Amino acid sequence: MTTASPIIRVVDLEHRVSLGDEDITILKGVNLEVKAGQRLALVGASGSGKSTLLGLLAGLDSASRGQIHIAGQPLHQLDEEQRAALRARHIGFVFQSFLLLPTLTALENVMLPAELKGDSGNRKRAMALLEQVGLGNRVRHFPAQLSGGEQQRVAIARAFMTQPDILLADEPTGNLDQQTGARIIELLFELNRQHGTTLVIVTHDESLAVRCERRLLMTAGQLEEQHG
Ligand SMILES: Nc1ncnc2c1ncn2[C@@H]1O[C@H](COP(=O)(O)OP(=O)(O)OP(=O)(O)O)[C@@H](O)[C@H]1O
Ligand SMILES: [Mg+2]
Repeated sequence: MTTASPIIRVVDLEHRVSLGDEDITILKGVNLEVKAGQRLALVGASGSGKSTLLGLLAGLDSASRGQIHIAGQPLHQLDEEQRAALRARHIGFVFQSFLLLPTLTALENVMLPAELKGDSGNRKRAMALLEQVGLGNRVRHFPAQLSGGEQQRVAIARAFMTQPDILLADEPTGNLDQQTGARIIELLFELNRQHGTTLVIVTHDESLAVRCERRLLMTAGQLEEQHG
């Protein structure tokens, strides 16, 4: 891969699901190229397909049709295990619903992605990340013992853990008060500045969207670039 080739390239992506006798098209004709280090805000109405696209970019599911290339690798041609390996190597993901493991403490949840990569000497880094999101005093808490916003911050620390090339974040400030949200936004952009992390952020938060150099609008499964 040359430096000029995009880190994310999506070609004619379509995603359909069948529910009983009904076939629903969730994404249609989605094309997208993102250069390494770009900051991109994905906006659009509820149900338009934003989370679906993010999940496909992370290889959590495979699309019905079309291509997704991540760091030059054809994600659409990989099986589940290979997609998981590609994800571990390149992608951090902040889910809209956090998806913390209930039986692990905050600290253990943050350490998990690095452990899955075979890096077990990461306790200090996980602690430092939890400090950075303002949870230094909650590391031993289990998810059920944390507020919604605190769980979200653990999920953000977890996504940062492996210093991913690409961070996919689904409404990362959606459950946070303005001050905590501002702190998380700073962290996201610091990651981008210091490590050149590509940011793809689903957000309704205008203060976050304005700091992204590109804005994409999803409307009923179709994606378009919005200009100035
Ligand atoms: N597994 C599934 N089976 C059937 N329909 C689904 C499935 N996953 C998503 N959908 C439908 O696809 C559409 C897009 O969902 P998605 O979660 O991507 O929306 P979104 O843009 O993220 O919305 P929100 O802003 O509310 O999070 C919705 O209408 C949803 O009901
Ligand atoms: Mg969503």
